[in-house]
Amino acid sequence: MNPTKSIDWLSLRADFPILDQEVHGHLLIYFDNAASSQKPRAVIDALRYYYEHDNANVHRGIHELSNRATIAFEAARERVAKFLNAKSADEIIFTRGTTEGINLVANSWGGKNLKPGDQILLTEMEHHSNLVPWQLLAERTGAKLVYVPVTGDEGVLDLSKLDQWLTPQVKLFAFTHISNSLGTINPVAELCARARKLGVTTLVDAAQSAGHKPLDVQALGCDFLAFSGHKICGPTGIGVLWGRPEILDSMPPYQGGGEMILTVDFFKSTYKKAPHRFEAGTPDISGVVGLHAALDYLDAIGRENIFKHDQELASYAYDRLSEMKGVRLFGPKADRVPAERQASSVGFGISNAG
Ligand SMILES: Cc1ncc(COP(=O)(O)O)c(C=O)c1O
Repeated sequence: MNPTKSIDWLSLRADFPILDQEVHGHLLIYFDNAASSQKPRAVIDALRYYYEHDNANVHRGIHELSNRATIAFEAARERVAKFLNAKSADEIIFTRGTTEGINLVANSWGGKNLKPGDQILLTEMEHHSNLVPWQLLAERTGAKLVYVPVTGDEGVLDLSKLDQWLTPQVKLFAFTHISNSLGTINPVAELCARARKLGVTTLVDAAQSAGHKPLDVQALGCDFLAFSGHKICGPTGIGVLWGRPEILDSMPPYQGGGEMILTVDFFKSTYKKAPHRFEAGTPDISGVVGLHAALDYLDAIGRENIFKHDQELASYAYDRLSEMKGVRLFGPKADRVPAERQASSVGFGISNAG
């Protein structure tokens, strides 16, 4: 990463073949990146190369192609660990996306650790993916949901009375790093530190931050973090769950099947350690290869640079929109990134968050 290099942002358009077309008589300008981003040539080429040269199943073949596919698959795991500054690639679980990562934690960790009377702390700005899995878990376990409120139109968390909600009854605090509807950036390290003092496990939804700013799971101090490949220039159907190794190894499997077992007999099986324990069945191998290329692409630009550029665009749009009569702006004015599904991509209305 090179935070000081100056980027010719306009020239990056040429990296995205899909932008080379007219829609409704105009050159395509794509604003819906927060929902799903377009793919640079480097990612498309990596997928194509994989299918044309290396395609085979991973971890089970003894032939050349299977070896190559396995090497590519595990190299991507190492790359994701570097992307997140994780201590080890064993902390990286490949999932279908943020949604599956959160469901994995809710089912496996939540199913094991929650009981009636326990509380799950969320915030009022969560995406449905970081809401519904906890509702299902609460119904199953008898735990209760509690919410940190969001202040008025500025759309930031009301942390003035956090102690009121973050209590010893709370077993898990799950919150978004960056809000998809408001563009708000939450103070993750501070929230995790306060939770940790009470022994509360934390999960960070990084769906909207992974492609916008550097992520360092050690500095953030969370216990779980999930993101999706398709929002950060990677393929659809691939995502990542990072987990603290001692917690991952204490969790039961999420799904059963091939690749996650050590031994199997008719009545009992034993399971591999993380991450393989949580990757039942044939994974999305090409997705993982494409994700690797996407991370390389982003880091060649530099996530510091992307973050700075985002803030400049959001701030410019915020100022211009503020000048317009009849427009009510939601989300913070400063220290924000563009949000999802708003016409100018800066967030002047609350999306349906879904
Ligand atoms: C903040 C946030 N969390 C979670 C998700 C769900 O991501 P996915 O559908 O890729 O699992 C999204 C998608 O828009 C999001 O914006």
